Amino acid sequence: MNGFQFVVPTEIRFGRGSVNGVAQGMDAWGVERWMIVTDETLVSLGIVEKVLAGVEANRYTIYPKVRPNPETGNIRDGVAALKAAGCTGVLAIGGGSAMDTAKAIAYMANQAGEIEEYLDGRGTKKRVLNGEILPVLAVSTTAGTGSEVSLYAVITNEKTRIKDSLSEGGIYPKVAWIDPDLMDGLPAHITAFTGMDALGHALEAILSTIENPMAEVYAIEAMKRIFTNLPKAVQKDREAREEMAFSAMLAGAAMSHCGAALPHGLGCPLSGHLDLPHGLTVGILQIPMLRISKPVIEEKVARINRELKIEGTDPVEALIEAIEKLEETIGFPAKLEATIEEATLAAMVEDAMIHGCTGLNPKALSKEEVTAIYRAL
Ligand SMILES: [Fe+2]
Repeated sequence: MNGFQFVVPTEIRFGRGSVNGVAQGMDAWGVERWMIVTDETLVSLGIVEKVLAGVEANRYTIYPKVRPNPETGNIRDGVAALKAAGCTGVLAIGGGSAMDTAKAIAYMANQAGEIEEYLDGRGTKKRVLNGEILPVLAVSTTAGTGSEVSLYAVITNEKTRIKDSLSEGGIYPKVAWIDPDLMDGLPAHITAFTGMDALGHALEAILSTIENPMAEVYAIEAMKRIFTNLPKAVQKDREAREEMAFSAMLAGAAMSHCGAALPHGLGCPLSGHLDLPHGLTVGILQIPMLRISKPVIEEKVARINRELKIEGTDPVEALIEAIEKLEETIGFPAKLEATIEEATLAAMVEDAMIHGCTGLNPKALSKEEVTAIYRAL
């Protein structure tokens, strides 16, 4: 077995009612005033109020301007708001977009220059970190992104439309509250999209060229639970919601160590250029990854199938069938149903070829193969 490293520095507080401890959790970091990074929907649903119950009003400022697929301009705006309000810590309440926005604001609060100079997902980072990162706390309201236990913040460069990232140990949330009570009201399609994102994190972490046996244990366990529970979670089953929240966290920790593969490498450009939900684009690319990588993944997939009790003489085909069945059960679209202009397609291909996750796919991908995959969606 190869040597490996494994670290999840985030303190995880999991379970129904765990957000009751947020007020006390905000006390430990020497922060007098927190910026609450969230969106208007979570404010209007009363979720922000529920999380902040028991926190004195002068301890925080609510910044409800998170948008899906956050962009560099959103981070500039957030940093300006943070400074204007005199906040020195950031608490995210939301899904991946809120957590990634919060992490990026915390990262940029004390850095010289522009966020574009620090994005590092395409090998174009121009500056090294030179200022202190503010403490980040996270309250996760979806079960999918795993951002609550990762060192990534995915941010779209508003000038190039490239969905890039910051990755830095200092942006791991100090504490993550994963409270399924906050997820009970999630609509079926968001449960399905985020659930497929979590499945992608687990499967891609196993198939990526970075081997990590401990991450694989997390990823296999996540896959088992996702196959069993995602269909029930879409039907709003309470226990299945808990299982999905747990699985998404396990899968996120696995991905944080192994990276991802084709679905994230091609899905991020798709989501960045067409402004589509991350989980939709990542989910729809799982089967293309398995098909094109088939000759080099049979052994690993056979291992996954044994653990998940997926039967069939051809392991890759058997897993594809199982995923198709899962997608059908949860109402996940089999086709993208989006028109991609030729110029956009060319830009997406360029972008995908330099995406870090494309390079981690078990089978190396040519420009022609990437183009063909996009055309077939
Ligand atoms: Fe993802």
